[in-house]
Amino acid sequence: MELRSDTSARLSFFMLTLSTVILECGGFSGPIVNSFPYGRKPAQVPLGGVRRQAAVRVQMSWRLPKGYRREDVAGGDMDPSFASILGNRLGIIASLVNNGSCVLDVGTDHGYLPIALMKSGKALKVIASDKNILPLDNARQSLERINDEALEQLELRLGDGLAVLSCGEVDTVTVSGVGGKVISEILFGAEGDAGEVSERRRVQDYGVRRVVLQPTGSISTLRKDLLMNGWEIVDEIINSEAGWIYITMVAEWRTNENQGENNISAERMLVGPHLLRRASNSAAEKILLREWIKHQLRHFKSRRDGMRMSSEDV
Ligand SMILES: C[S@@+](CC[C@H](N)C(=O)[O-])C[C@H]1O[C@@H](n2cnc3c(N)ncnc32)[C@H](O)[C@@H]1O
Repeated sequence: MELRSDTSARLSFFMLTLSTVILECGGFSGPIVNSFPYGRKPAQVPLGGVRRQAAVRVQMSWRLPKGYRREDVAGGDMDPSFASILGNRLGIIASLVNNGSCVLDVGTDHGYLPIALMKSGKALKVIASDKNILPLDNARQSLERINDEALEQLELRLGDGLAVLSCGEVDTVTVSGVGGKVISEILFGAEGDAGEVSERRRVQDYGVRRVVLQPTGSISTLRKDLLMNGWEIVDEIINSEAGWIYITMVAEWRTNENQGENNISAERMLVGPHLLRRASNSAAEKILLREWIKHQLRHFKSRRDGMRMSSEDV
């Protein structure tokens, strides 16, 4: 019971923080017509005969203010050539990979991101991995369909997370389309491994220095785990595609000095300072951020109300 009221107080605190942030965001407020929290079904978006999976969980149902079109809500420093090939969701990840990188794309499924990175010449080498055979077969089929010399440096590997990797093979890891907790486990090991921390290999132990992540949920958990493990979140971008909001974060390895939960404010965890900074400069990102925060508020409220009801039952 005590745990419940503790959690309920925390949720109220989160809601208050988010309400404050939403006031700071100001700007436009489009009417929310309909929404559902962290849906399970991936949206299927047809693109030039190719099936693109959009796996992000915050549905946006709002009308853009006059003067804005849906396509305008790219957000961030999107490379237009990637946007036209991959769409906004995967396009922003490709845009955030540095030129000349060697990349591991964990959970690649269709393999579109690795293919675009190789074909564009942005990456020197890409390993596309998946822990399941069928998704990796999807990637293989994509490669066979395209059948391009530029893809010779693209390797497919079957395996769980970083287990497919040898030390020093890549400098960048991308993960998208899975939740923040799964991403955290991929990068830093599973929960419950606490006793084996010293033996557990974390992403930095493989020589990786940059990660580009697009979680489908548990974003604040992922922020916290990155910071706690010595990574600095250097950018976060909010954008949208086909009515869904995506948050993409870039983190770079610094050091594990001066990091720790105590240094990290609740606001920083919940919303992310980069999203706030960007929203203050870009009307499009401001609109998206407001909608995302409103969604979070509804999510926390329904969790808190659910807890209150179940404690009344007892
Ligand atoms: C929804 S798909 C996302 C595909 C692609 N990354 C995208 O964003 O469109 C998620 C993929 O991640 C894979 N996956 C989940 N956990 C994984 C892990 N620990 N290691 C490797 N692959 C994983 C699943 O098999 C699935 O193919």
